[in-house]
Amino acid sequence: MTAFIIIIQLIYLLLAIILVIYLINIIFSFKKLVPYVPTPYKVIKQMIKLAEIKPADKIIDLGSGSGRIILKVACHYPNSVTGIDNSSVLILTTKFRFWLNKVFKKLKTKNYKIIKGNFLEFELSDYSLVFCFLTNTAMEKLKENFEQLPAGSRIISYHFHFASDKFSEKMIPLSKRGKIFIYQKLG
Ligand SMILES: C[S@@+](CC[C@H](N)C(=O)[O-])C[C@H]1O[C@@H](n2cnc3c(N)ncnc32)[C@H](O)[C@@H]1O
Repeated sequence: MTAFIIIIQLIYLLLAIILVIYLINIIFSFKKLVPYVPTPYKVIKQMIKLAEIKPADKIIDLGSGSGRIILKVACHYPNSVTGIDNSSVLILTTKFRFWLNKVFKKLKTKNYKIIKGNFLEFELSDYSLVFCFLTNTAMEKLKENFEQLPAGSRIISYHFHFASDKFSEKMIPLSKRGKIFIYQKLG
């Protein structure tokens, strides 16, 4: 009985440590180019609908956080899906969530990558659909990366935008939660 109580207490302690590390990581993310703020699920649903995903699309979320967007896509589409984030804790969280969804057979794709890295240094020429929820500054900094995308590729950005004559731009206002920008690379 005593051993059982000690094991339960150790599990609580472990969970408390994980929670503290997660919270510290989120607080420190506010010092980054883009802090960790998850996209609301209602907005993710809209973003995915507006993306009109095609079977051949190679999809990436730049700054994938805890994996909300890519997981939603991976649970509904058989496409290739990639998430990139520079936070080890968020990458670990995403990998764990994908592992859980794989165990419970919720994933529609086996073709997913979760990369720890800096999206500013990431080559985008292989992708055709980009999701992001960043900041205007980050979007401007990513302009050169975006311009590597093949003709016809789309960028679905929650709330933030950039200016480039290599893309068409459409803004979709949301009733309560800001707006979504849709970019398409011109041929
Ligand atoms: C606003 S959150 C969006 C999270 C996720 N896309 C979502 O919708 O729930 C932005 C993410 O960008 C990540 N980030 C910030 N700067 C980055 C960089 N230079 N390279 C990769 N990821 C970065 C942060 O760690 C954070 O998780």
